[in-house]
Amino acid sequence: MLSCRGVGRTYQTDRGPVDAVRRIDLEAPDGRFVAVIGRSGSGKSTLMAMIGGLIRPTIGSILIDGVDIWALDDNAMARFRNRRIGYVFQFASLLPTLRAIDNVALPALLDRRHAAAEAYDRAAQLLADVELGTHLDAYPSEMSAGEQRRAVIARALINDPILLLADEPTSDLDEQTEREIMALFLSVNRERGTTLMLVTHNLALASEAEQVVQIADGAIVP
Ligand SMILES: Nc1ncnc2c1ncn2[C@@H]1O[C@H](COP(=O)(O)OP(=O)(O)O)[C@@H](O)[C@H]1O
Ligand SMILES: [Mg+2]
Repeated sequence: MLSCRGVGRTYQTDRGPVDAVRRIDLEAPDGRFVAVIGRSGSGKSTLMAMIGGLIRPTIGSILIDGVDIWALDDNAMARFRNRRIGYVFQFASLLPTLRAIDNVALPALLDRRHAAAEAYDRAAQLLADVELGTHLDAYPSEMSAGEQRRAVIARALINDPILLLADEPTSDLDEQTEREIMALFLSVNRERGTTLMLVTHNLALASEAEQVVQIADGAIVP
């Protein structure tokens, strides 16, 4: 279960405070596909980054799987984020000096719960799952944009997160590639049961979600 309780974020800027997110309440049971829509500047990325443990709310709390994530200390937060949350950013990219398989294995290697060999076995399986089984040794520069994004998704899944966050993950891709990547997100949600929270401008895609959250001026449109 994901639960946002009165979550808000105010940025201090030279022009004064900006209320990017205003006390949002939001609940999503495990396994749900939640689409987040709204105009540019409405607060979507700020909300996602707070749920993803990247931007601290100025007010409210966020519970993921019963854990009040912003009550954790920095180390516990880093561990929780690495183990439980997969995050795919807009323009998400791989480390250019590492092969696809190293990139995907990295979050598991950092976690150190499992032996390196296990991390690599799992990375190879995930790359096969996203149809990159023939690209394990490829460097990012040797892969197409869509292939790179599929590897990013595999990397987000390596520690078997309960929550997969994706913030406009296809905005830089062509339409056909966007369709492929979106199909992959949907299959992750359906087949693994991973909760998926996805920001998109694609209303056809949003209409497939079980829950649509529309944000305007930092608040949910009822
Ligand atoms: N780091 C920041 N500092 C100051 N203002 C910010 C910062 N990040 C975002 N904002 C402002 O917060 C509002 C919401 O931004 P954002 O969450 O990026 O919206 P969206 O993802 O919907 O485009 C905007 O007015 C934006 O200018
Ligand atoms: Mg954004």
